[in-house]
Amino acid sequence: MEYRFCGRSGLQLPLISLGLWHNFGGVDPYEKSREIVFHAFDKGVVHFDLANNYGPPPGSAEENFGKILRDGLHTHRDEIIVSSKAGHLMWNGPYGDGSSRKYIMASINQSLKRTGLEYFDIFYSHRYNPETPLEETVQALIDIVRQGKALYIGLSKYPVDKAKEACDMMREQNVRCLIYQDRYNMLVRRPEERHLEFLREEQLGFVAFSPLAQGLLTDRYLNGIPSDSRAARPTGFLHPEDITPEKIDKIARLNKIAAQRGQSLAQMSLAWLLAKPEITSVITGASSVRQLDNNLQAIANTNFTPSELSTIDNIIL
Ligand SMILES: NC(=O)c1ccc[n+]([C@@H]2O[C@H](COP(=O)([O-])OP(=O)(O)OC[C@H]3O[C@@H](n4cnc5c(N)ncnc54)[C@H](OP(=O)(O)O)[C@@H]3O)[C@@H](O)[C@H]2O)c1
Repeated sequence: MEYRFCGRSGLQLPLISLGLWHNFGGVDPYEKSREIVFHAFDKGVVHFDLANNYGPPPGSAEENFGKILRDGLHTHRDEIIVSSKAGHLMWNGPYGDGSSRKYIMASINQSLKRTGLEYFDIFYSHRYNPETPLEETVQALIDIVRQGKALYIGLSKYPVDKAKEACDMMREQNVRCLIYQDRYNMLVRRPEERHLEFLREEQLGFVAFSPLAQGLLTDRYLNGIPSDSRAARPTGFLHPEDITPEKIDKIARLNKIAAQRGQSLAQMSLAWLLAKPEITSVITGASSVRQLDNNLQAIANTNFTPSELSTIDNIIL
């Protein structure tokens, strides 16, 4: 594994991180989830990304991660980075969603309890909430760091102007925002509009989530929808109607470029992100050790010729 410094900080993250959004919940076979996490750690994937609501059911990914820690990983606590988040619907009533101080403080306490951790390495505001004054959310995040419940603060899916305001507020209180997290992959280019420039200016780390577009940017769906895939499962966020013939046509063409590079499409999709200097790490998901191993080989070649890059853009854009 290779590691990159996270923006202007002393913290390094592995180029490939593991996210526990899918495949690690109460509906998934625990032994398999544990095998993937242990294997990841053995390969230097030392950054594990959680959120209060990951499962299903919500909370169960954190519970399972806590169990995996108790099953052995806890002896390596100082060798791993564990992140969690609050910002999406987690429990009923007015305090289980949004970005109020009440919700964020209650949520991190619950997340610590579920995982059995004393602190998170990174704690994120999971999304911007226009109904909560930004200073209320930011103050809660700062206080979480001051209380020792998290070492660093992150923001996820914030509009650029709100992320900038939040970073300024933190700086005023001598706390730096460490990292920004958003969806970014060959198919979804939104961060290129303004976020990448903002991240360079602020010298923030950037972790790209869903770098494989939930599996679309792999060979998984080239010949239909496999019965064990995310798109076939009732609990996922990728649906059969997302797998359109137009997308599959593009993906088949991308697959050929990957083959010419001597990579799987999954490897090329990750390498395409890792080639960008703004990217600290890509947070991938995996439903098997085999997929994880395939993805880890992406770092062997993250160089693209200008002609490869323009061919990729011509296929997609
Ligand atoms: N901040 C946020 O709001 C936010 C939102 C979403 C995600 N995230 C974070 O990002 C993480 C990753 O998201 P994601 O799971 O959507 O990432 P992803 O890497 O785009 O998709 C992972 C899925 O792709 C398939 N796959 C992975 N490697 C493969 C390979 N080598 N060959 C074929 N198929 C492969 C698997 O699907 P199958 O299950 O079909 O095998 C796997 O579950 C999450 O766990 C979470 O930590 C954050």
